[in-house]
Parts: sequence; structure tokens; C-alpha cells
Amino acid sequence: MSFILIEKSNHVTTITINRPEALNAMNLIVVGELHKAVQTAVSDAEIGAIIITGAGDKSFVAGADIKAMSQMTKTAAREFGRAGHDLLNLIENSPNPVIAAINGFALGGGTEISLACHIRLAAENAIFGQPEVKLGLIPGWGGTQRLARLVGKGKAIEMIAGGGIIKSDEALRIGLVNQVVEPSDLIPLANKLAEKIIQNGPAAVRVALDCIRRGQDLSLTEGLEYELEAFSQLFGTAEMLEGTKAFVEKRPPKFR
Ligand code: CAA
Repeated sequence: MSFILIEKSNHVTTITINRPEALNAMNLIVVGELHKAVQTAVSDAEIGAIIITGAGDKSFVAGADIKAMSQMTKTAAREFGRAGHDLLNLIENSPNPVIAAINGFALGGGTEISLACHIRLAAENAIFGQPEVKLGLIPGWGGTQRLARLVGKGKAIEMIAGGGIIKSDEALRIGLVNQVVEPSDLIPLANKLAEKIIQNGPAAVRVALDCIRRGQDLSLTEGLEYELEAFSQLFGTAEMLEGTKAFVEKRPPKFR
């Protein structure tokens, strides 16, 4: 049985982590299967947006598989951590936006997967946390790095050193998620957002995402130069000519 379900529809791939009996906790096999699914989606020129969610109504991902970790040597743990980093880097570097639809527990590696996604939508029952210190560990899939960059150093230290959980309303308040909705509205909202994205100029979306991502590692001056180059390079492309012509002709653009 596969731990990953994939649905491709109208330029959007939805990937569901499917191990509900363990609240979608991730062992090396699940990590490998998710990596393969994301790799396929990011390499597919037809795909303009990706949604990642968890199977069932209780959990997005309850973290790395603690039972598996309890048996790991230092060497195996390094391999497991590296596999997690490779997966999350792949998600973060996706040319097209990746939306996390967080439908319940997002603990440890679950919060970390959501942090690598570009947009985080949460159901009201979503619960976030980095409880690794309770296991004598630290976040190992980027939590010590990405969480502070998103919510600030103080809040990240509170969450990681305290090891507590936060509910969806608090996650929204601190900017950890973009929106919170009723559980039944979560996937419809993710689909609606994905549909909005794929109606826009595909190259423009990819270039905008690239500029925002690259800008995180650059000074403002360097980032503005990077944006200027990217902006000017789009002029004269078929996509830009169609977008501007459609505006002048008062009709919707046809990009795909
Ligand atoms: N690893 C392995 N199995 C897990 C799991 C995990 N992270 N989380 C849940 N499960 C399993 C449980 O063992 C249980 O299986 P069994 O029925 O076979 O015993 C099943 O999922 C259901 O879980 P619970 O009975 O515990 O459900 P609950 O509703 O009472 O509690 C919960 C839910 C609060 C999420 C609780 O399961 C829990 O605390 N899970 C662990 C969360 C955690 O600590 N995550 C961080 C992991 S470390 C990490 O992720 C490192 C990293 O940075 C990569």
C-alpha cells in the first residue's frame, strides 16, 4: 500500500500523506514516497500549483515516526535528517507555489513540512508545535531555521524550547498560517486559491516566487536588482504580450 495519494486535476496536483493509523507520522518510507510525488509534480510542466494535506480529519502530520527514531543510531539519524531536509528543500524550491492544507495535528516534522510550503491554510482544529525537546531531541527537518524566519526568533524559541502546542487562532495571530477556516472548507479553499494561481501568467508566477525566495538570502539592494532584472526579462514574452493585450481588449487573458 502506498503512503501517498496523488490527484492531478486542471494544472493542480494534490498530494495526500496517507498513514492515518499513525496520524500520518513519517518514517523513511513515507519521506521517500512523498519526495517522489513532489519531484513528479514539480517536474510536470502542466502543473501550476501543488496542494499537500494529510489523510483523515484528525492529522496533517504528527511528526517524524517516533517508534522508528527510537531505534536509530547517530548514522541512521543523520540519513533520516538529510532525507527530511532534501524533501523540504525540494518543496521550498518548487518553481510553482505549494499550499499546505493543514487538517489537524502538525507536530514536529508536520509543522516543519508546512514551513517549507509557500502558503499555509489551516482548519480550525489544526494544532502546531515543535515538541522534540520532550523527546530529548531538537527539530531536525529545518524547524530551528525556518520557524524563526517566519514568526521571529522570540516566538520560535518559545515554541521550540517550551515544546508546547499552539492552536490555529494563535498560529494565525503570529503569522504562522495565512488563513483559518472550518475543517469542511479547507480543501475547497486550497483548491480555490490554486485555481486563482493557475489562471495567472505561469512564468510570471514562477518568476515572482523565485524573486521572493532569492530575496530572503540577499540584501535589499541586491534583491531589488534581482527583481529589476527579472521584471525586465518578462517584457516581450508571449505571456506578457497576451496579458497586456487582453487588458487593452477588455477580455480575460488566455495563458494556458
Ligand atoms: N510517531 C509514531 N507514531 C505516532 C506518532 C509519531 N510521531 N504520532 C502518533 N502516532 C501513533 C500513535 O503511536 C498511535 O499508534 P498506536 O495506536 O499504534 O499506539 C496512533 O498514532 C494514534 O495516536 P494517539 O493514540 O497518541 O492519538 P491521540 O489523539 O491520543 O494523540 C497526538 C495525538 C497528541 C498527536 C499524539 O499522538 C502525539 O503526541 N504524537 C507525537 C507528536 C510528536 O511528538 N511529534 C514530533 C515527532 S519528532 C519529529 O518530528 C522530529 C523532527 O523534527 C523531524
